[in-house]
Parts: sequence; structure tokens; C-alpha cells
Amino acid sequence: MSRASMKDHAFKPDMKEGLYRAIHSRRDIRSQFLPDPIPEEVLARLLLAAHHAPSVGYSQPWDFLMIRDLKTRQAVHTAFLKATEDAAQKFPKEKSDQYRTFKLEGIREAPLNICVTYDHSRSGPVVIGRTAVPVMGPYSCVCAVQNLWLAARAEGLGLGWVSIVYNRDLSAALDLPDHIEPIAYLCIGYVSGFPPEPELETAGWLPRVPLTEIVHDGRFGISCAGNWPELHQALLKEQKGIYSFPNKK
Ligand SMILES: Cc1cc2nc3c(=O)[nH]c(=O)nc-3n(C[C@H](O)[C@H](O)[C@H](O)COP(=O)(O)O)c2cc1C
Repeated sequence: MSRASMKDHAFKPDMKEGLYRAIHSRRDIRSQFLPDPIPEEVLARLLLAAHHAPSVGYSQPWDFLMIRDLKTRQAVHTAFLKATEDAAQKFPKEKSDQYRTFKLEGIREAPLNICVTYDHSRSGPVVIGRTAVPVMGPYSCVCAVQNLWLAARAEGLGLGWVSIVYNRDLSAALDLPDHIEPIAYLCIGYVSGFPPEPELETAGWLPRVPLTEIVHDGRFGISCAGNWPELHQALLKEQKGIYSFPNKK
């Protein structure tokens, strides 16, 4: 195939920009939810995007539990409070104090919660690609979550993943059958704004790890700076936003 026809498969610049903008301006949302309802046709687009995620052996092991009623959400929130108190006690004192200042969920404020689940029985006991590493099943569900998250951003919707709830509490609150495992508990809704960077970064909890530190040349710990300087320079430039689409809008 010639170079020109290879490039024909690339998106046009504005379509590429849309994709990268969704990726770079997506945020985990907990504090900025507005109560406005989400139109059903928008929800349908998001769910279809999630359903088109890659899945191991095309098993499509996900389900989407749409949680509107406040009573169920209150039960999940109570479970969150228990788990977050346990979590606070695991950090050293200074970090624990800071942890307690964070708002780490929007369960009751968001107009809708969605639980993405994994069905252990979907498409039979032997699945192509899942035989050596069974956790590929749940990984597939996480791919669906990411599709949902990016599509939500493109639709102007914020989404927050709440993982500080024990699975047994979540399963009880949602009355899940035994073969259904909760993968992601998500809060979703329109927002007053998208923070320009991760809130944990703004709060000084952790910085973004430099891209050049996590890209290795062939073996762990071998930087590209030595034997692949072209890639190393490209990573440095990309990181500084020289080539990037604007990610602070
Ligand atoms: C698997 C997973 C679980 C998470 N759980 C929580 C959570 O319980 N509460 C929370 O506030 N954020 C949670 N987050 C959001 C992360 O804190 C967030 O993605 C990270 O700080 C980077 O920020 P950004 O998503 O805005 O870029 C979770 C994210 C992932 C991928």
C-alpha cells in the first residue's frame, strides 16, 4: 500500500481534533453536576458507544444498570461513606487529613447513576482470548466504560467513577444476581464546567507522570533518549503541547 492511500484511512483534521479534544478534556466529575435530566436519545447514543467497545472473543460481557431512584442511590452513598472512612484510615495522618477534604463522588447530585457490570456467563464458559487470563472479561467492560466516558464528554456530559464502595455492598444495594459482578459505578449529568486538569493534580495530591518516564525502549527502565532519540524528542514536544490539539478548553 502506498503512503498516500495509508493516510486516506486517517480522519480529517477536524474529526481528529474532536477525538483528541474529547480525550484531553474528559474529566472525572464529582462536584459540578447540574440536576437537569439527560434526554433519552443522548443516553441511547452513549450506551451504543459503550456497546461498541472491544471485548475479548466478542463476548460483550457488559450490562448497564440505569439507576434513577434516590433510595437506591442513598444506599450506595451509605456504602460509600463506610468504605471511604476505611480508606481514610489507611493513609498516613497528613495524607488522611487531605483525603478527607476531597469530594470523591456525586451519587446523589447527579441526575443519573449507571452501574456497568460483568456477566461471568455471557457467551459460554470458554471465550476466545480469555482462556489464559480470565480478567480479560472485566477488562472488556472497562473498555465499554471508557467509550461511555468519552462519548459523554463529547455530548457535554460529565461522568464520575465511584470505586470506593465494597463490591458486596454494591451488589446488595443493586440486588445483583450472583453471576453479575459490578465493574464501574458511574455518576453522570450535565455540569457547570469541566476542570482544566485532574482535580487531584490541582490539589497537589499527585502530578501527571512525564510521558518520557513511562515509555521504555524494549526493556523496562531503558529510556528512548539513548537509542530512539526521534521518539524521545517527539514525546517531549507532544508533552509540551507543541503538536497537541488544545487540551485546556
Ligand atoms: C478505575 C477508576 C476508579 C476511580 N474511582 C474514583 C473514586 O472512587 N472517586 C473519585 O473521585 N474519582 C475516582 N476516579 C477518578 C480518578 O481519580 C481520576 O480519573 C484521576 O484523578 C484523573 O483525573 P481525570 O479523570 O479528571 O483526568 C477513578 C478513576 C478510575 C479510572
